[in-house]
Amino acid sequence: MALLAPSILSADFCALGRDVQRVMQAGADMIHVDVMDGHFVPNISIGVPVVESLRRCTDAFLDVHLMISQPEKYIDAFAKAGADLVNIHLEAEGDMPAMLRRIRQLGKQSALTIKPRTPAEAVFPCLELCDMVLVMSVEPGFGGQSFMPESLPKLRALRQEITRRGLACKLEIDGGITLETAPAAISAGADILVAGSAVYKAPDLARRIRDFKNL
Ligand code: DX5
Ligand code: ZN
Repeated sequence: MALLAPSILSADFCALGRDVQRVMQAGADMIHVDVMDGHFVPNISIGVPVVESLRRCTDAFLDVHLMISQPEKYIDAFAKAGADLVNIHLEAEGDMPAMLRRIRQLGKQSALTIKPRTPAEAVFPCLELCDMVLVMSVEPGFGGQSFMPESLPKLRALRQEITRRGLACKLEIDGGITLETAPAAISAGADILVAGSAVYKAPDLARRIRDFKNL
């Protein structure tokens, strides 16, 4: 059974606390927080103050996905705000091993994310420093896009390498995850499914979460 991380990008920002509590009560495993700077991706979403507010209204594990050009400048602030996991993009600026070490030093879980055109092997040199690797199955920036099946061989390659090295690193998939696309991602090795629109736009949210959890 895969873990489910609803992305609040598709929630109602006027009622974020309520929308987080709704998914957690319905059985979600953690909350995925999409941070966008309008530079690394062509969209702007939310930042540190929102993570601070979320931390005050839920005990849920906060998986913070930083789609920002200069993560180095903000890692400490997101950790202090209450992120449980800080997820940086391999394609961003900065010294990846140093940033991953810094995240762990701050007592948080560390993760690296790769965009659709970045090969799985690009993460291999940093695998030991990652508690999780996120494979993007859409171009980051927007919710509601279609799943790219090219992500599946990347999940398989990462799973194989993680097993070969005997690591505890988890694999997450993000973008276009629905009840139809999730099963292939799970068989390819995904431990955690991020789903935004498939959860928050569902006619019956609790039932949709149950259906995801039963895959
Ligand atoms: C996209 C974000 C995703 C997004 C997923 O850049 O990283 O987390 O919210 O949305 P859906 O599930 O609608 O593709
Ligand atoms: Zn995301």
